[in-house]
Amino acid sequence: KSAEYPVHVKTIGSLSRQQILKVMELAKNMKADPHAYTSALKNRTLLALFEKPSLRTRVSLETGMTQLGGHCIYYALADSPLGKKESILDTAKVVSRYVDVMTARLKTRQAIEELAENATIPVVNALDDYGHPCQMLADFLTIIEHYGSYEGMKLAFVGDCQNNMTYDLMRLGCIMGFHVTVAGPADKGFNVEWSVVKECEKLLEENKGGSFKISNSKDEAVAGANIVYCDSWMSYGIPQDERQERFKALMPYQVTGETMKLADKGAIFMNCLPAVRGEEQTAEVLDGPQSVIYDQAENRLHAQKALLTLLVNGFDYKL
Ligand code: CP
Ligand code: NVA
Repeated sequence: KSAEYPVHVKTIGSLSRQQILKVMELAKNMKADPHAYTSALKNRTLLALFEKPSLRTRVSLETGMTQLGGHCIYYALADSPLGKKESILDTAKVVSRYVDVMTARLKTRQAIEELAENATIPVVNALDDYGHPCQMLADFLTIIEHYGSYEGMKLAFVGDCQNNMTYDLMRLGCIMGFHVTVAGPADKGFNVEWSVVKECEKLLEENKGGSFKISNSKDEAVAGANIVYCDSWMSYGIPQDERQERFKALMPYQVTGETMKLADKGAIFMNCLPAVRGEEQTAEVLDGPQSVIYDQAENRLHAQKALLTLLVNGFDYKL
């Protein structure tokens, strides 16, 4: 094992620019020639813990492990004594003795922290309240495929800015060197947490070339953007009784056909899904010619296969 083993991916900020580029390179190769990698994780096992629902993450992880010659155990926390008779500490230590890598979709960043702190195998956050690194890798692959490059790119995220996706998109731009503007009703509680602002400032200093801006104007954020991004207004776990108030605050930030006209002419529209037509964006946008949502979803498979291969075999793995 290399000196840096195990690498834990808690947010996209856990990976360096070089590591992300390596994942991209391997993901492209795996996508182009999946048959060349059918033994990359032969006899290896992934444990995929889930405390929240999932379509894409679960299906792409399970499929990916099969394609790499390994096996995935789907483990719903509802089936586990965790939180009742079992601690995160013991879960991390026990499963580290069985499997080679673990993904976890847990409700809080503290739970992911504790899992990573106590595991002796790589732990990947599969969505908590603070980030969604697997989605970032898939989205970045989609951007590179579409544009052939990413430097100088302008990405606008509009809607709920107190959000896992918002935070990781900001981090991704700062690490890779593109420009991210996020816009939402900060005055109504949808503001970016201060810790993320501080973290992004540090990432910018270390990596150079990118920038981030926080705005309350949808039009300002979207003007001239190459990528327009939005995410669900009802993230997993948000109680239904908050729905009405959230929608009142967020409706001015809906992405419509008119919004897309303010973006660059060749702009793409992204949403990590699940999405609701008529909520965070109109059907016209989600199903329109600028939308790349199904490429994003497909790329979850390729990007995660590459990430898991590098985490298990080491980042010096020969492509
Ligand atoms: N985008 C995403 O993570 O989708 P799921 O919630 O279906 O896994
Ligand atoms: N912000 C969303 C992302 C879903 C992939 C949520 O947390 O539900």
